[in-house]
Amino acid sequence: MTTDSNKNSVEQAPIGVFDSGFGGLTILRDIRRVLPQYDYLFIGDNARAPYGTRSRELVYEFTLQAVKHLFDKRCHLVILACNTASAEALRTIQQRDLPVIAPDRRVLGVVRPTVEKVGELTRTGHIGVFGTPGTIASGSYNIEIEGMYPGYKVYGHACPMWVPLVENRESGGDGADYFVRKDINLLLGTCTDIDTVILGCTHYPLLIDKINKYMPQGVNVIQQGPIVADSLADYLLRHPEIERHCSRGGTCRYYTTEDPGHFSPLASVFTGETVDASRVIL
Ligand code: DGL
Repeated sequence: MTTDSNKNSVEQAPIGVFDSGFGGLTILRDIRRVLPQYDYLFIGDNARAPYGTRSRELVYEFTLQAVKHLFDKRCHLVILACNTASAEALRTIQQRDLPVIAPDRRVLGVVRPTVEKVGELTRTGHIGVFGTPGTIASGSYNIEIEGMYPGYKVYGHACPMWVPLVENRESGGDGADYFVRKDINLLLGTCTDIDTVILGCTHYPLLIDKINKYMPQGVNVIQQGPIVADSLADYLLRHPEIERHCSRGGTCRYYTTEDPGHFSPLASVFTGETVDASRVIL
């Protein structure tokens, strides 16, 4: 039985949330909607975004730096709110680094919870995935989906221009129309049976108006935020040994590797609250 005195001795800290840039805010927003009671600490590595066109080694190196920084801030649980980092760095961090640097802490990603959900949504079993070049080249979605649902077919399509459009605040512009329409046509042109498309990059919901404009009716578009949030709520219920280290205050602090003067105004638009970010050096 837990007594009040040893409950008080448990170290508590915010849940860490990491992305290469603005995209992770789309996940954080939904996590905070579902789990408003916890504290959060967000890091966007905007100075080095996009990750999706970088080598696997660099994505791993940058992601590990961010995870270590969040551990230094005492976070016991870190969510990689980034598909590229989840696809290219998570497994190594979980299997090789964590046992050495922090065996009692956890790092979770966004690919697995998304794949667990997709089976409920497709009728044809033909699933499209939009992602960064790194995520698509990693084959993570193919491996996870085909492993979990034998017989399903996965069609990955890399959209190298979508993240730069978001990071450069062009998601409402004509360039976004051009690239979103082009990439949707290219993906759907590979198979007419695709009925479900995963937005496999956390930046892509920031282009949702354009995506909805050009996606044919009848094709499900899967956004990860609500899925990851529900999955995290379930995880915390099943893992009280981690949950008890998550502080409860309903706060959120934001850090960026870029100039906070660049980050905060746009982050405020995405989160719907005033963001006053601080600079962090990883
Ligand atoms: N938002 C990230 C993802 O989900 C990374 C985008 C990037 O930096 O290229 O893949």
